[in-house]
Amino acid sequence: MRTEGPEGDTYIRASDIKQVKREAGEFGTLSYDPAFMNTASCRSAITFIDGDKGILRYRGYPIEQLAENATFLEVAYLLRHGNLPDQKQYDTWVHDITFHTYVHENIRKFLEGFRYDAHPMNMLCSATAALSSFYPQARDIHDPHQRYISMIRLMAKLPTIAAFAYRHVKGLPFIYPDNDLSYTENFLSMVARMSEPKYEANPVFVKALEVLFILHADHEQNCSTSAVRAIGSSGVDPFSAVAGGIAALFGPLHGGANEAVLRMISDIGDKKNIPAFIEAVKSGKGEQRLMGFGHRVYKSYDPRARIVKKLADEVFAQVGMDKDLEIALELERIALSDDYFIARKLYPNVDFYTGLIYRSMAFPTDFFTVLFAVARVSGWMAQWEEMILDKEQKIARPRQIYIGEGERQYTDTLSDKFPRARKDSIRK
Ligand code: CMC
Repeated sequence: MRTEGPEGDTYIRASDIKQVKREAGEFGTLSYDPAFMNTASCRSAITFIDGDKGILRYRGYPIEQLAENATFLEVAYLLRHGNLPDQKQYDTWVHDITFHTYVHENIRKFLEGFRYDAHPMNMLCSATAALSSFYPQARDIHDPHQRYISMIRLMAKLPTIAAFAYRHVKGLPFIYPDNDLSYTENFLSMVARMSEPKYEANPVFVKALEVLFILHADHEQNCSTSAVRAIGSSGVDPFSAVAGGIAALFGPLHGGANEAVLRMISDIGDKKNIPAFIEAVKSGKGEQRLMGFGHRVYKSYDPRARIVKKLADEVFAQVGMDKDLEIALELERIALSDDYFIARKLYPNVDFYTGLIYRSMAFPTDFFTVLFAVARVSGWMAQWEEMILDKEQKIARPRQIYIGEGERQYTDTLSDKFPRARKDSIRK
């Protein structure tokens, strides 16, 4: 009944537990696991994490080596195909993604319909769902070509939609893709280009964005990836599934954490307020958490946070240190030496420093999660396709333990069953 995985994980099939019965004929025993604390929902060959040792690998390659040497599109290829590309494969992959960066003009008009203060994650989520209606052939999820071209389209168009969302909120004209530029440079161009005929990105920012995209590309069965898999398991097209993933990522406990870190730092306001803030976190006052700390899986350190901290040093060396960074460093110093955080194995996660880097690159706070989504779509699509091709997978449908009332009889407690409808139907 116990099986051992290649990395030493042992597991049993939850359906085997069903055989535990008090008497023949009854349903059997369910496993109860709120928030999937100890339940694997799939077998996956994409990303490996050892939370106790602080290890993260994509397709077997340590994240440190990929962040140091690879491009984001190389990593996206690796996630989807399982191996690093040779030159010809890479050229085709980059060409295909570059070729699809433009969006239908109606998507542009659709984005223009949002209020000036719309959150860019709402815009990204809705526009991604809308893409589904532009590519109805994507519903043929069992056709390998349709799966491939949908992944290409999502990878190619999300940066364009993200940049359009940014420009809309700023009231700036949209900048169309420049396909002579690299993936990251083109993204920065669509975000920041003004009147210059050719955008030249700051190479430190290009490098930083490449690395941050690589670090955010996949993270096995996190909330948004599980959402994409669960939605995709119904057989819906990948645009709709990814829109669901974007919605899940929006939450402050997930992709929204980097935004929450900066808001927290701004609320603290000054280094002298840090001790009181830490005390409020520890006493649970207002359910305040130290945002950017803690992780469901990493219990020694988050390997991405180590890379991000080094990256932050490089970016801050160029743009300078500010008050918020000083607050962040002091928060980290205090938290790492405080028994509350040590006992609960709470360390800085990837989001603790990413927000500060993004802000120093002049991205507005509510745009941080959008940057996460642009990177994560590569992982979502690799995971989605793995799920589609996995013969063991079926439509996701958890069981529940019912804790409500037992059967009871209906009694009429109302004197007027349709008050609203009746008033509306009276013509004066
Ligand atoms: N600040 C203060 N206390 C915390 C924190 C925190 N950031 N995180 C966890 N705890 C405490 C929590 O109160 C609990 O204490 P106790 O045992 O006394 O009740 C204990 O640590 C265990 O917490 P938990 O909520 O059971 O842990 P979890 O695995 O369910 O939560 C988490 C993981 C990431 C949601 C949580 O650590 C958190 O809310 N962190 C802040 C938000 C954040 O930075 N999220 C980004 C995650 S990394 C990006 C990504 O992969 O999405």
